[in-house]
Amino acid sequence: MEDMPVPLDQALAEVRELLLAPGLTRAVAAGRRRGHTPSVTRAQVRPVTLKSGTKLQIVTDDGARPFTRNVAPGDEAAAALDELLAEPFGNWHVETDSATIQVRITKKGDAQVHRAATTAARPAPEQGHDRTKQWLLDPGDPLFEVIGGNAAKRRQIDAFLRALAATLPEQLPEPLRVVDLGCGNAYLTFAAYRYLAARGAQVQVVGVDVREDQRVRNTAVAERLGCAEQVTFVAGTIEDAELPFAPDLVLALHACDTATDQALARAVRWEARWVLAAPCCHHDIAAQLKNAKTPFPYGETTRHAILRERFADVLTDSLRAGLLRLNGYRVDVVEFVDSAHTPRNLLLRARRTGAAPTPEQQAEYDEMTGQWGVTPALATMLVS
Ligand SMILES: C[S@@+](CC[C@H](N)C(=O)[O-])C[C@H]1O[C@@H](n2cnc3c(N)ncnc32)[C@H](O)[C@@H]1O
Repeated sequence: MEDMPVPLDQALAEVRELLLAPGLTRAVAAGRRRGHTPSVTRAQVRPVTLKSGTKLQIVTDDGARPFTRNVAPGDEAAAALDELLAEPFGNWHVETDSATIQVRITKKGDAQVHRAATTAARPAPEQGHDRTKQWLLDPGDPLFEVIGGNAAKRRQIDAFLRALAATLPEQLPEPLRVVDLGCGNAYLTFAAYRYLAARGAQVQVVGVDVREDQRVRNTAVAERLGCAEQVTFVAGTIEDAELPFAPDLVLALHACDTATDQALARAVRWEARWVLAAPCCHHDIAAQLKNAKTPFPYGETTRHAILRERFADVLTDSLRAGLLRLNGYRVDVVEFVDSAHTPRNLLLRARRTGAAPTPEQQAEYDEMTGQWGVTPALATMLVS
C-alpha cells in the first residue's frame, strides 16, 4: 500500500525503531538523495549470532571495498545506526519477521513509504548456528552481485562454508594463510575469504589455477570486491606454483583426477594445518584396477565397468584418507553438498596432528594396496 509522502524524520524514526527491534531480518540502505552523496554506496544491517552473543552486523560498501563490523545491541547499535540514518541515502528497505517497509526519499526530500506483510517463504533470520536455514554467507553479500548467484550456487557455497567452519577452530591464527589449488573461477575462494573476514580473521588468500585467463579475471573480481590486497591469484600448476607463503589452510575443490593428489601432496609437504579437498573425476586407480588381478572373492566389483568405476572412486578416496593419516593428519570423509546438486559431493577434511602412524595403520595401507595391486598417484608423489 503506497501512502502519501510523509516527513522524512517520521519515516526514518520508524526505520530506526524496526532496525533496533528483535524481529529484524535484514535492512539495506542505498541510493542517494538529490544533491547529496552518502559516504558509502550501500549499507546492510542484519542480526547475527556469534559465539560472543547476538550482534547487529553492519556491512558498508564505499564502492571499492565492503567493510563489516558487528556491534552490540543497545547503545552501541543505536549509535552506529544513527550514523547510518544520518547518511543521505535515497532509500531504505527493512525486512522484519512480520513486515517489509520500503522508504524512498522523494526529490522534494519527503519520504514515500511502502509497507507490505512478509508473506513469502524466506529463510529464517540468519542467526543461530543451529538454524537449518541459516546462511553462513549472507545472500545479500556483495560477492553475489559480482559472481551472480542462483539458489543452487548459494547452497553449494553455504555447504562448503559449513564444512570449512566445522574444520577450523574458533581461534584462528593471525594471519590465516589460505591457498585454493585449482581455484577455477574462484567463487569458492572468494566465499571463503568473505566468510573468514566476516569472522574477524586477518586472512591472506592465494588462488592457483593453470589458466592465465582465470588469473586475470579473478584479479579483476578481487578489485571489484575491494579485496585485491588480501586475495591474489597465481597462474601456475598445483604442483609447483610459487606462493608468497606456506599456507595454514589448503583448499582443493574439484581439481581434476590426480590434480587432487598433487594438492594433497603439496599440503603434506607444507605441513598445512588444515586441508579441504573435494575430489573430482578418478581415472588413476580405475585404470590400474582394469589391469590388476582382483583379489578373491571380489571379482564382481571389477567385472562390470560401471561398478569398477564406482569402486575405484571409493578405493581412491579411501587410500587418500589412509595416506593422509600415515602423514600425520586426522581425516574425516563427509558429504559436502547434497548429491542433488552435484555427484562430486565428497569432501576429505584433514587436520594435521603430526602423529606418527601406528604399525597397524601402516600394515592396513600396505595390505590394501598390495591386495588390489594398485599404487595411488598420491603415494608416488609423496615419495618423490
Ligand atoms: C573443475 S574446476 C574447479 C574450480 C573450483 N575449484 C570450483 O570448485 O569451483 C578445476 C580447475 O582446476 C584447474 N586445474 C586442473 N589441474 C590443474 C593443475 N595441475 N594445476 C593448476 N590448475 C589445475 C583447471 O584449470 C580448473 O580451473
